[in-house]
Amino acid sequence: MLKIPEFENLYGRPPRWMVAAPGRVNVIGEHTDYNDGFVLPMAIERYAVMAADLSQSSAPRIFIHDSRAGDTAQIDLSKPVVKGNPRWSNYVRGVVAGFQNRGATIPSLDVSLVSTVPLGGGLSSSAALEVCAATLLEAVTGTKMSAVEKALLCQKAEHEFAGVPCGIMDQFVSVMGQKNHLLLLDCRSRQTELVPMNDPSVALLIINTNVKHELSGGEYAQRRAQCETAAKILGVHSLRDATADALERARSKMDLSLFYRARHVIGEIERTVQAAEAIRASDWPTVGDLMCESHASLRYHYEVSCKELDSVVDMCKYIGINGGVYGCRMTGGGFGGSCVALVKVDAVDAITKQIATYYKIATTGNGAQNGIEATIFSSRPADGARIIRSETPVLLA
Ligand code: GLA
Repeated sequence: MLKIPEFENLYGRPPRWMVAAPGRVNVIGEHTDYNDGFVLPMAIERYAVMAADLSQSSAPRIFIHDSRAGDTAQIDLSKPVVKGNPRWSNYVRGVVAGFQNRGATIPSLDVSLVSTVPLGGGLSSSAALEVCAATLLEAVTGTKMSAVEKALLCQKAEHEFAGVPCGIMDQFVSVMGQKNHLLLLDCRSRQTELVPMNDPSVALLIINTNVKHELSGGEYAQRRAQCETAAKILGVHSLRDATADALERARSKMDLSLFYRARHVIGEIERTVQAAEAIRASDWPTVGDLMCESHASLRYHYEVSCKELDSVVDMCKYIGINGGVYGCRMTGGGFGGSCVALVKVDAVDAITKQIATYYKIATTGNGAQNGIEATIFSSRPADGARIIRSETPVLLA
């Protein structure tokens, strides 16, 4: 029988259900999803895992303990679920509300949550949590929904319960990721294509700067609004429909920061399509160049990078292809979080050591007397959310 110690320690019995949903790293296509563009992420081998059983209490509620935060949330099911405390529970509350809106009958549950997706690392710990909760509720209630419906329900939870007007990338890849594949997602048509990424000579290295990012801080929403304004000035529905030439012609009609925001998005959509092609052809130097260009554009035109992310990218460029790095860029929303580097497998250890040493030196001072430790790991593209254990798959059907 499958066991999950946290659940057994907390509740004194084995769980009836166990589900997992991964975080993600975006290889390229940043700040393009809410502009109807393309993104190219993959699920990573870091997961939010929930174990659950029907509760023995008669009160209609979900009792959920997060081992990382060390605290417990109680979600009252007797009325429409609203925002509450602790803060992390809002990702789960939003998903529960989504199931309530679909008319699902949710029984009282005891749940334990364990997540290995770094918090604030730009690796979608929140999407992993939402998709994990949705997967649990699917298993428990026997709800049948398509992968797209499920991802959109989770995105809505993030909008309404976490206050982040995110695009669709994170939730889609946490639901639909597939082992050894990147997910090329057209955010306008919502069509997906799995792009194989299983060349044993290359690896993706994730370098978490351990500088936290907080997307509800307002910068993200501001970028999104700027893109909408730029699209309006260009007379298109979204920046997906704009071209570099049309933008150049409209330069005098918008202030410079809008112009550069739009320039990033238009260029990044092109780079993403080109990168997918280069990956299909195992043309790693081209993929690496596109990643470096993406970073420069995010740093100077979109202005969502920070000095810690830049120092990692600069170091990777210094190591270069001869040292085993094809390219590197910040990944995710920005303002901290992680970089992703495309590297030669046989150089992973040496590169990891070099980056760790340099990053510590680069971040010394300003309150960090001994510098900041980066967390560096590689991940193969992983599978999306899964039900690992389900004793009674359709409980309330
Ligand atoms: C965050 C959002 C995504 C996407 C990225 C930037 O991760 O949740 O929807 O917009 O930022 O590419």
